[in-house]
Amino acid sequence: MCGIFAYHGPKKNAPEMVIEGLKRLEYRGYDSWGVAYKKGGEIHVHKEVGKIGDFDSKNLNFGSSNISLGEVEDQYEISMGHSRWATHGKVTEENAHPHFTEDKNIVIVHNGIFANYLEVKKELEAKGSKFESDTDTEVIAHLINDYCKKHSFEEAVDKTCKRIEGRYAILVMKKDRSCIIAARKGSPLIIGVGKEENEFFIASDIPAFLPYTNQVNYLDDNQLVQIDKTGIKFFDMETNKEIEKRTIEIDWTIEEAEKGDFAHFMIKEITEQKSTLTRAINQDTNIIEEVAEAIKNAENTYFVGCGTAGKVGMVGEYLFANIAKKHVNFCFGSEFSNYKHFLNDKTLMVCISQSGETADTLEAIEIAKERGVTIVAIVNVETSTMARISDMVIPIKAGPEKAVASTKATTSQLAILTLLAYACDGGINKGKQLLINTAAQINDMLNPRYEEYILKIAEKIMHVESMYIIGRGSNYPIALEAAIKLQELSYIHAEGFAGGELKHGPLALISEGTPVISLVPNDENTKEMISNTIEIKSRGGYIIGISPENHEVFDYWISVPDTHESSPIVNIIPIQILAYQLAVLRKNDPDKPRNLAKSVTVK
Ligand code: G6P
Repeated sequence: MCGIFAYHGPKKNAPEMVIEGLKRLEYRGYDSWGVAYKKGGEIHVHKEVGKIGDFDSKNLNFGSSNISLGEVEDQYEISMGHSRWATHGKVTEENAHPHFTEDKNIVIVHNGIFANYLEVKKELEAKGSKFESDTDTEVIAHLINDYCKKHSFEEAVDKTCKRIEGRYAILVMKKDRSCIIAARKGSPLIIGVGKEENEFFIASDIPAFLPYTNQVNYLDDNQLVQIDKTGIKFFDMETNKEIEKRTIEIDWTIEEAEKGDFAHFMIKEITEQKSTLTRAINQDTNIIEEVAEAIKNAENTYFVGCGTAGKVGMVGEYLFANIAKKHVNFCFGSEFSNYKHFLNDKTLMVCISQSGETADTLEAIEIAKERGVTIVAIVNVETSTMARISDMVIPIKAGPEKAVASTKATTSQLAILTLLAYACDGGINKGKQLLINTAAQINDMLNPRYEEYILKIAEKIMHVESMYIIGRGSNYPIALEAAIKLQELSYIHAEGFAGGELKHGPLALISEGTPVISLVPNDENTKEMISNTIEIKSRGGYIIGISPENHEVFDYWISVPDTHESSPIVNIIPIQILAYQLAVLRKNDPDKPRNLAKSVTVK
């Protein structure tokens, strides 16, 4: 949520590099963007509303200062940028980052929420500050400037951070200082260590600087970093002491983080499920056994996640009930605090997240940790905050996922939960075999003919007003997940229901031709699912069946392999394809659905 990128180093095209970095981070927010550049003793800013998309850095315009890029002036260049997902204030140029103070002394980019900004804003207004935007970010810039009257720049940033209630990642530059200061609490910031002397990148996510380096330093909460011509220094803001940081090598490649020949990241990532599932399964089984043992021994286990990862957790509840005959609780990250009275040191929390940076899940972890709960993270980004603060980590190994709508991470998370449920029942090898077979069948299923077949149904339903998805058992949460996918990609009203719940209300929504996707695996629910589907068809519903069998009630059949307990994995894939195709047909951007962002680092 909001992308931040900065460059300090000897290359003489820092703003261009920042623009390219922001393009690679655009999945984090795309309401507006902006770049700040330090040159000629001044800081210059260019901002625009909308997506950075194909913006050509030749068109950068830093206003009347008319500075030319590429002119060698300082030994090192400094530039930073931001792509915004609006929280405080509408999508306007004034509200776009970077934000200046009136005297152009301080400039800042920010990801997060400054919860107590109104109180601080009033204080600063009383002292004479004038604000141009509605953002909480501009208040941070003014507060730093105010502290600078009596303190050094470094101290001013530190003091300001201590006044911010909420989660943040900030980058700050000052007119008369050739340095950049960054600090974080709760929102991600990663330092890329460049190949040249004193060359550093700062970004919200690794893919932004992957073309230049795979050597990184992680900034943890309440830490501050200062970069200038003498190098990089890290500080702990709680102890006010300088600290050492280990440089870590990341094993992601730039090819994995680029679109290649695919039209969009989403279809690339859907296709990658041919191999990602195998990667998720074929890893060290010790950690799976260890977590399964912890679930067995815990008095209470909570599966926690948000959005799609939340739906995966909900599937987990069913998988554990059916396979391991073990009750686990599911809860969305944002709802978790309601369970705080039931948490103790015998509780286990299993967090599911692609990014490992989702604020609601991180907050749930904080609540749990305060009560002595053991935390397990099932994450894609192994070096994320969530992975680093958890007691045990199961990496899903899906590689970078850049489309806002999660696809390959979802099926890999489902595979891990399936494996865990089998391991909990003492049958990890049985689970592994089932998943190996599932992966092989997905490999056969994902081909251009399959996509063309789904395209026909996408063309048929592309103009409908509403559609519904039904499922039972472990496929009920998949119906909910299918609804999210269809909503965010097609912008068509879509809702998921438990098959048995239709007769208690939703049947009233069905009229002649209403498309209903019915998930009908071969399992103990098949008969009831068919009955529920017939009830819809009798009221005029147009039935799209996703099933290994072509049941008579279906008007359109999308075939999926018969994978028994892993049917949630194979059933969501044709819906991912359908949602993608609806986006393309309706001229929506499949990688960047309106109003959304990939990594939601605000509550
Ligand atoms: C956003 C994304 C979803 C994702 C959710 C949780 O809403 O658009 O695709 O499922 O965040 O993200 P996480 O990184 O925790 O899986």
